[in-house]
Formats: sequence, structure tokens, C-alpha cells
Amino acid sequence: MNSLTKDAQKAAERVGLHSDQITINGGKPLRGRIEVRGAKNLATKAMVAALLAEGPSVLKNVPDISDVNVVTGMLEAYGVSVTSASDGELRLDPSNVLKAQFHEIDALAGSSRIPILFCGPLLHRLGEALIPDLGGCRIGDRPIDFHLDALRAFGAVVDKSYEGIRLTAPNGLHGADIELPYPSVGATEQVLLTAVMASGTTELRNAAIEPEIMDLIAILQKMGAIITVEPNRVIFIEGVDRLDGYTHTALFDRNEAASWAAAALATEGDIFVGGAQQQELMTFLNIFRKVGGAFDIHEDGIRFFHPGTPLKPVVVETDVHPGFMTDWQQPLIVALTKAVGRSVVHETVYENRFGFTDALIEMGANIVVHQDGLESVTRRVPRRRLEQAAVIIGPTPLHGADIEIPDLRGGFSHLIAALTAEGRSTVSNVGIISRGYEHFIDKLRILGADFVYEG
Ligand code: EPZ
Repeated sequence: MNSLTKDAQKAAERVGLHSDQITINGGKPLRGRIEVRGAKNLATKAMVAALLAEGPSVLKNVPDISDVNVVTGMLEAYGVSVTSASDGELRLDPSNVLKAQFHEIDALAGSSRIPILFCGPLLHRLGEALIPDLGGCRIGDRPIDFHLDALRAFGAVVDKSYEGIRLTAPNGLHGADIELPYPSVGATEQVLLTAVMASGTTELRNAAIEPEIMDLIAILQKMGAIITVEPNRVIFIEGVDRLDGYTHTALFDRNEAASWAAAALATEGDIFVGGAQQQELMTFLNIFRKVGGAFDIHEDGIRFFHPGTPLKPVVVETDVHPGFMTDWQQPLIVALTKAVGRSVVHETVYENRFGFTDALIEMGANIVVHQDGLESVTRRVPRRRLEQAAVIIGPTPLHGADIEIPDLRGGFSHLIAALTAEGRSTVSNVGIISRGYEHFIDKLRILGADFVYEG
């Protein structure tokens, strides 16, 4: 996102993304308590689900982030009334759904990938969906072939036009037999949001089973859907004729929690992350402990801290749930620059998620990215086609630098690196972080960071 076109820039500003910068005097441990709210990767999908209902839905624990603003703008463009009764609570009323003006959704979509998930609900509600070119973080090609193949299996007709993709369902949508080539999060959500109101039964194999997907299934069940999650990544969905609104509290953001945990470790600090829960973070906690980080689990959150002893190197491979999530590797790598020895991070989900390490290298880290991955006998899964590996040799003290944020999670890693580094760093394009981290500037203040923010 670092080379935004004028239009994309305007759209980004409309949803609250600013090209701002922060100057950080690093080397101070972060200490204190912050709260995480609902997961970005659930809240935004739950908002789309509201489009399927006959009546209003209420979503609680919604984070104040720009990705939520993007989806709000898109829903409003389709005639859904989105109001906020109290802090973190959205009321979504789809009683008057109507066709949107293409330029309106196009202007918003530039900064997100969520529009693709509107396809099923819009086909059910309006018989047509027009999807503009998709945005989101630049972490690889991020194609939508699984989505389109699934929609075709339901009976949708897909036409590609110069504006984007137009979908129609001349004979309605019917249940389908779908096997995903890879347990894609988005494609699984696409199938769920489409199958719930398609006629007949859908069998989805090789589905993603991330906690956010389970929470979306819980929401759909509240709405009246019939969804059975079977062993071995199989999901059955029996289509129903109508769905009602839901009231739901979004599950906490495990990615945000893991990011602050990594910040505590890298800055040799002590952060209590209110709202974090052990269950969804178990895999992360194991690696955190192996690196030498300490944590205490409480009823209302988790305290993450550096115990004062040297950090240890680890070998990690990212994977689909319940594996080590790809979004966790970027913040963790900053802490690994402090570990004594050679760590290896195999990235198996995205083909280009190590771009952020360039800035860390500039700041003094010893990191080598192997674009074609690394063979290793100790791997849990065989090498994947798009795999990359980063080898981090530490400890290397980081020093301040002027850096520009490339994507959401990589951006947060840059923040942590600047907080860890000796001296002054200027981090630009920092607004991208507000896509997924609620009030992060306020949180940095609470944690005692020494910085000047130019918004
Ligand atoms: C979701 O992206 C999240 N985004 C990502 O978080 C997260 O990293 C990812 O899941 C993995 O957990 C949202 O929920 C909005 P995928 P998604 O479909 O759904 C390939 C963040 O920072 N693929 O599981 O887009 C794809 O290219 C974001 O919060 C196809 O080839 O992820 C990738 O290599 C970043 N064809 C892999 O599958 C398709 O049609 C996994 O993607 C779809 C995906």
C-alpha cells in the first residue's frame, strides 16, 4: 500500500486511513495494561452476514478500526442502515437493501478484500453482485479463484468486466459439493455465507476451521442456519429459506493480542492484554514460551512479559489453524532478533510475507530470506509450493532508522522494531496499522512509549 494512487488515497482517507508518521525514541520497555476487542477478521464478516437477515442484527465488541469503516461504508452503499447505539456496538438493519452505485463500492473497496464476501449475500438478496478490484495487504498475489469456483458450483454465473466481476444467478443458488484446494479462510467464509440460503445441502471439504470461522458459524446458527462441522475439515450446510437478525459479541482479536505479546518480549517489557483468552492462543503461547517469554493466564486477559533471561532461538512454520498463524510471524521475528542463535521461520501460507524484514535488516538485524524456502527434515508438513523461509541470527541490537510501513502486520512489526531500537526512528505510512489495531497510538501512550505522532 505504499504507492497509493490518488483515488485509492482518497478512498483510504474516507475510511479513516491517513498517511501519517510516528517518530519513536526506542529502547524503552513497554509496560502496562491495554485491552483488545473483537477480532477484525470476525467483525467484518459478521457485518456481511447481517445482509442475509430479514431484520436487524446487533454486533457487540466491534473494534474501532478502519476495516470496520470500509465494511460499514459498503453496507450503507447497499442500503443497510448501520448505527452505533453505544461504544463498540453496531446495529445493522438490512430491511431496505438496494443495488449500490458501482463507483461508491469501488471507492471503498480499494482498501479491503472483504467485498468478495458480499457475493453470496448479494446474490440471495438482489440476484446480482458487482465486485470491484480487490485491495488488502500486499503480501502476495492473493487470488480469488477458490471463491469464484465455489460460487460457480452454487450456480452463479461469473462475468469479468472492465469494472470488476459481475455475478448473477439466473436459476437461483443451489447446494454444492465443494472441495477447496487449500483450507482458505476467505473461501470457507464465502461458502458458508452462500450455502446457508442456497436450496439443498452443501458439503464443504478441506474447510478452514479458524476460531473466527467458528464464531461466524455460531452467528449464522443464531440467525437460523443449519451447519454441522464434522471431523477432518468437513462442513455440511443445509440451506434454509430465511434468516433472522442476530445479537452476538465478537470473539477477541487473537492477532492483536499476539502482536502486543511480541512487543512485550522484544522491548523487554511487561504487558497485560485485557480480553485475551488462552484457548485461541495456545499454539502462539507454546512458541512464546519456547522463545523464553513468560505469561500468566488470568480470567480477564493474559500478562505477557520478558523474564529477564536471554531469549532462545526457535524453528516455526506458519500454517492454517490450529497451526501457528501467518499473522503472528511478523511481530515475532522482531523478538527473534534478540534471541541467542539461529531461528528459522517457514512461511507456508503467503508467498510474499517477508518484505517487512528489509527494514529490520536496515536497522541492524541479521536476517536472510530464502525465496524458495528451505528443506528441513524436522518439518511438520512438506514444503509448500509458494513457501519462503527467513533465517534470523541473533542477538543483534537494532538501531533507529527511517522506515515505511508495507502492510498491516509487517507495519506493526516495524513499530515494535522502532520501539526496541536504540535511538530515533521515523515510521511513515503508519495509518495502515489502524486497519486492524484499535487506538494503537493511545495504547502506545498507556504503555509508556516515547514518541511523537503526526496524524
Ligand atoms: C484471511 O485472509 C485474513 N484476512 C488474513 O489476515 C490471514 O492472514 C489469512 O486469512 C490466513 O489466516 C481476513 O480475514 C480479512 P486465505 P484470506 O484465503 O481469507 C490463497 C490480516 O492482516 N488463496 O486463507 O484472504 C492465498 O493467496 C490479514 O489480518 C488462493 O490461492 O486468506 C493465500 O496464499 C492478512 N485462492 C492462501 O490461499 C483463493 O481464492 C490463504 O489465503 C483464496 C486464497
